Amino acid sequence: MTSRLVKDTQPAVSTLGFFAPCARGLEASLAAELSALGATEVETTQGGVQFAGDRALGYRANLYSRLASRILLKLDSVRYRNGDDLYKLAARQTWETIAPPGGSLRVDLNASHSRLRSLNFALLRIKDGIVDQLRTSTGSRPSINTERPDWRVFVHLEALHAHLYLDWTGESLFKRGWRNDDLSIDSTKGAAPLKETLAAGLLHLSGWVANPGPLLDPFCGSGTILIEAAQIQAGIAAGHARNFAFEALPDLDHALWTAIRDEAQAAISLNKLTQTPCIGMDQDASVLSKAKRNWIKAGLPAEAAQWVSGNSLRKLPSLAAPEAAPPGMLVTNPPYGQRLQDPGQGGWRDFAGLLKQSYPGSQCWMLSGDLDLPKQLGLRESRKIPLMNGTIECRLFGFSLR
Ligand SMILES: C[S@@+](CC[C@H](N)C(=O)[O-])C[C@H]1O[C@@H](n2cnc3c(N)ncnc32)[C@H](O)[C@@H]1O
Repeated sequence: MTSRLVKDTQPAVSTLGFFAPCARGLEASLAAELSALGATEVETTQGGVQFAGDRALGYRANLYSRLASRILLKLDSVRYRNGDDLYKLAARQTWETIAPPGGSLRVDLNASHSRLRSLNFALLRIKDGIVDQLRTSTGSRPSINTERPDWRVFVHLEALHAHLYLDWTGESLFKRGWRNDDLSIDSTKGAAPLKETLAAGLLHLSGWVANPGPLLDPFCGSGTILIEAAQIQAGIAAGHARNFAFEALPDLDHALWTAIRDEAQAAISLNKLTQTPCIGMDQDASVLSKAKRNWIKAGLPAEAAQWVSGNSLRKLPSLAAPEAAPPGMLVTNPPYGQRLQDPGQGGWRDFAGLLKQSYPGSQCWMLSGDLDLPKQLGLRESRKIPLMNGTIECRLFGFSLR
């Protein structure tokens, strides 16, 4: 495979190659999302999507994508046999024009079907190639920083070809910039927030994004699913409140990026939210107050959400759709064994009865690592979609409530 990078004589119109990794199971939805942004040559692979487009598309993909984990710019590819070939691939780039001057570096490598015996050694050779080239061209070596690097290089090894990428994202795109609480702090307390990218994936796969109506998350935790939904409704770009690695790169097109940010700001329309009420319920009052704070920090008006404190297994709120709106839908990730105590067999049966009684004709979508959840609920699923929630193998179950 050859490089798609066309040297930048006219940076705004050159065709660039990109790769966007995502959670397993979201590839097709991400491909559709990127195509809607104007991507061409869109191709899904396991765990990501490759695509082509101009610089503006790369900036927009970072700003708007709700499903990608990051956006990588393809720099070069080579047919390789050993570490020396990888060293040469890294050393033949003009890093002094690519990297932020004096910035610290991190290199990541992943492989599928590579015949190399040591991937650590391969990584070392690539790092050496970059460092040596920069020392020769600038007179100084970049420092390596695996925690908070200023710039990042990714390498993907296939059986015969190595692909070299520059990260345009920085912190992973699931970090939208609105979460008040820290995932790691929460998980020690028992609550387990979904990644924003996965929450958005549930909304795509359930069909809510295509046909948005009132939305209820009866186990809403920190409110991730509802906040993603409300931002989609209000036209708030996923990355509205954060920065991206490409902003620190020497070839940043300031005027283009400012225009894209301005366009995103102008597209926000908060009054659309009142047509599709968002309702969050949780039995943990402290988690609910986090959800409320997150909602506000995400740029959403307080009056557009209803937060209900209580036990969803006993009583559920009304989900009436305003006239002419699509019927209400439930999208949730209930507690389950690997992360939280689930309510046990009897509890789920009662919950299924309550769902059918409260929302006849509605759809309920549940993400769970418990592959027996339908059996426990006593409901037959109409859809079952495999998804990875971090390292937990999950299913998104769709139920039609009759
Ligand atoms: C897996 S977490 C949901 C995380 C959420 N999606 C987020 O991103 O923060 C499950 C949530 O269900 C809540 N919960 C557990 N049992 C409940 C019950 N019987 N009624 C209401 N909420 C409950 C927990 O407090 C927890 O916040």
